[in-house]
Amino acid sequence: MNCDVKTVIAPVNIAVIKYWGKRDEELILPLNDSVSATLDTSVMCAKTSVCANPHFAEDEIWLNGKKESFSNQRLQNCLKEIKQRAYNEKSIDDIFLTWKVHICSENNFPTAAGLASSAAGYACLVTALAKLYKVKSDISSIARLGSGSACRSVYGGFVRWHAGVNPDGSDSIATQIADSSHWPQMRALILVVGDTKKKISSTIGMKRSADTSELLKYRVQYCVPKRTDDISKAIKEKNFGKFAEITMKDSNQFHAVCMDSYPPYVYLTNISHTIIDLVHKYNEISGETRIAYTFDAGPNACLYLLENEVPKVMSLIQHIFPSSSDKFVTGLNFKEEGLNEEFLKILSIPIQAKDSIKYVIYTKVGDGPTEIKDGSHLLNKDGTPVKS
Ligand code: DP6
Repeated sequence: MNCDVKTVIAPVNIAVIKYWGKRDEELILPLNDSVSATLDTSVMCAKTSVCANPHFAEDEIWLNGKKESFSNQRLQNCLKEIKQRAYNEKSIDDIFLTWKVHICSENNFPTAAGLASSAAGYACLVTALAKLYKVKSDISSIARLGSGSACRSVYGGFVRWHAGVNPDGSDSIATQIADSSHWPQMRALILVVGDTKKKISSTIGMKRSADTSELLKYRVQYCVPKRTDDISKAIKEKNFGKFAEITMKDSNQFHAVCMDSYPPYVYLTNISHTIIDLVHKYNEISGETRIAYTFDAGPNACLYLLENEVPKVMSLIQHIFPSSSDKFVTGLNFKEEGLNEEFLKILSIPIQAKDSIKYVIYTKVGDGPTEIKDGSHLLNKDGTPVKS
């Protein structure tokens, strides 16, 4: 057997205007537009290899080294839709579409950290399948069928997912606001907060909010449309202060929606709140907004900031959140900066218990999915996983 294996890496994205709530559960159509930044695949990425062969007995998938069931509805929807697209585009011989596929995928960052792994994973899977079936048209609406936020990981830079109005979801697609080279100073620090609590999944949480939260209705109708336009403008004009303010307000409103749901649910911990305090005080002392925080469905913070602020902020984080790990910060390189005693005094944030933050990932805005052509596939030519 000699399969043609296609391998793709795809990025994580972190929303600055949050997607929370669906108008269609099956097609994964959102109640509102959302906006995100795509993060550099050299620091965090999903990697997926796919191949098809007439000798394969069934569709098979391996995730992070473990064979998983292919019965997952979202996975099946993605595969079905990409084949339909290939059929419509007449991109390959119809016979190819009858062959079974093998899929092998892994993340280079811990899935347990709750870091948008499904977004990178589905964007990667759908892009790899699009390469295999030679699909040329926009595939963000297919990635969306895997996980809503995945449609934004199909593009690099700053991305907007348009909620759309069509019942079939044909206009619920992602588009690029600006590419990864547009705002080269933009950086992200992901603070992974230790948490053992079992959290409510995004899918379940947003259903409860859509069913019960009055605040969510208000947010969708009045807040998000203006915020989406304003933040797109702030991105285009590279207005960090405006970008940061909208980002923080939107994160706060999303977590307020969680509390406004019935029964309420909470993703932020005391450490998350300490990070929020730290950012606001830092900005106040600086006399301008230099850091933004945003939190997804978990306690981890993503801080957006410009490159020149990184040395000081990184030193501050290491001071306030002492760690027992010698690999506390991973990702891009940076210089440490000595902290001013006076500054620490005015900041007056107490030093936290050791390892309150498990580790920090330092990264930047990056490109969308890319095909890997150096032969480092996750599947062998016979369609079995390469043992790592
Ligand atoms: C808080 O895309 O994981 O990260 O569509 O049900 O798979 P499903 O949800 P998912 O939700 C992400 C929610 C969020 C906000 C965001 O990324 O916009």
